[in-house]
Amino acid sequence: MNVTIIGCGYVGLVTAACLADVGNDVCCYDVDQDKIAILESGGIPIHEPGLHEIVARNKAAGRLSFTTDPRRAMTQREAIFIAVGTPSGEDGSADLQYVLAAASEIGRHIEGFTVVVDKSTVPVGTARRVREAIAEQLAQRGVDAMFSVVSNPEFLKEGAAIEDFTRPERIVIGCDEDVPGEHARDTMKRLYSPYNRNRDRMLFMDVRSAEFTKYAANAMLATRISFMNELANLAERVGADIEAVRRGIGSDPRIGYHFLYAGCGYGGSCFPKDVRALMQTAQEQGQALRILDAVSEVNAAQKQVLVSKIVARFGQDLSDRSFGVWGLAFKPGTDDMREAPSRVLIAALLERGARVVAFDPVAMKEAQRALAADLRGEPEALARLTLVEDQMDVAANADALVIMTEWKAFKSPDFDSLKARLKQPIVFDGRNLYEPSAMDELGIEYHSIGRSGAPRSADDALGALGRSAAVSL
Ligand code: UDX
Repeated sequence: MNVTIIGCGYVGLVTAACLADVGNDVCCYDVDQDKIAILESGGIPIHEPGLHEIVARNKAAGRLSFTTDPRRAMTQREAIFIAVGTPSGEDGSADLQYVLAAASEIGRHIEGFTVVVDKSTVPVGTARRVREAIAEQLAQRGVDAMFSVVSNPEFLKEGAAIEDFTRPERIVIGCDEDVPGEHARDTMKRLYSPYNRNRDRMLFMDVRSAEFTKYAANAMLATRISFMNELANLAERVGADIEAVRRGIGSDPRIGYHFLYAGCGYGGSCFPKDVRALMQTAQEQGQALRILDAVSEVNAAQKQVLVSKIVARFGQDLSDRSFGVWGLAFKPGTDDMREAPSRVLIAALLERGARVVAFDPVAMKEAQRALAADLRGEPEALARLTLVEDQMDVAANADALVIMTEWKAFKSPDFDSLKARLKQPIVFDGRNLYEPSAMDELGIEYHSIGRSGAPRSADDALGALGRSAAVSL
């Protein structure tokens, strides 16, 4: 089939590369000439494992091309995917200006029957607005081209996007019930059939339900994480270990093991934005989504949890302190710094006068940019931040090491050499990478999430309960 993808961002590129890899003729269109120039010259503007190879081989085979020319991209195509950004607007709602601009561009160029696929994460009702934008342009041109708008949300995890696309758990497709909708359904079936092995993974539904499904999935996952984070904070007070609790509850198939990891908060391009957008949708409908209010609030507080632990250990004034930070990206396998908890922690440490020396295996360039933007108005604080190329260098003369992202490279470091470099052997771990007992044996003072206070005996536990009750009174 011949297919166009509008938007060469993370979702667009992964979709384009994977569809080309199973034999489709795929054209990628973007208004950003620099991005297209990078792609044409063999570069990839984002970090995603495996993507570079797939793009290169399909480009070489002539199945994947890049253009800024809308005519070339949008005439005579069987399907056109809209995969442009939907950033948060000021009120938290999804800003649809890029989606609707893409729709108008489609309306200016299509000639025959075209399936228009909403891949971007868009609020319920957007397909209708896309349809109207296309129809308006067709009317202006006096062209009577048939088209159908389909909702096909993505469920790609950064760092595992190729795997998620090619071996999906489910492929959600929302189609209209009319004749163009039936054609669209057949087109989508053919397009996704290579990924539909072993069992039928395609879930056909109405367009609105498909749009809603994406938000419901991300809101549910974000809720699990915030819930676990709140339980972790309570576990600390009562002297329980959240890691043991996680295994204990995850073994119940109704709960399951995934997405139960307590940590220093969720970030990224999806969860925070999608939770906000769903809350905004609810508000527009006159309904409060009280659970999601709490999910957001808990997450904002959780990004500060290591700051509180550091302040409890060293005091509010950190001006003569230095901290090494491992991990800047919002999660491993990506260089994405959007809403990364590291940004909150670093700003808070610098604000209290500390020096910060940080390292990330891939996100250094993005981190430099994001942190410079965060500290734009505070050049003096920014001057106390250094990014280093060697992960061990962050520890040199630091009062403590702080871990913000669970990259593999941090999982079993040379603890002796770490201890030799640190001013004092103290680790604050926002991702629970190590066993507290092992850290104890190594002589490292270890602060983690939801278990650092785990007492070893029943008496200790009662003591901890008493202490926490005293605090809350
Ligand atoms: C997410 C969804 O998983 C994906 O289906 C959707 O299409 C886009 O949003 P992504 O943002 O790439 O993907 O990352 P994900 O792996 O889901 O992690 C999101 C955040 O949650 C990260 O900050 C991660 O550290 C955090 N997280 C995840 C936890 O804190 N605990 C967990 O148990 C799992």
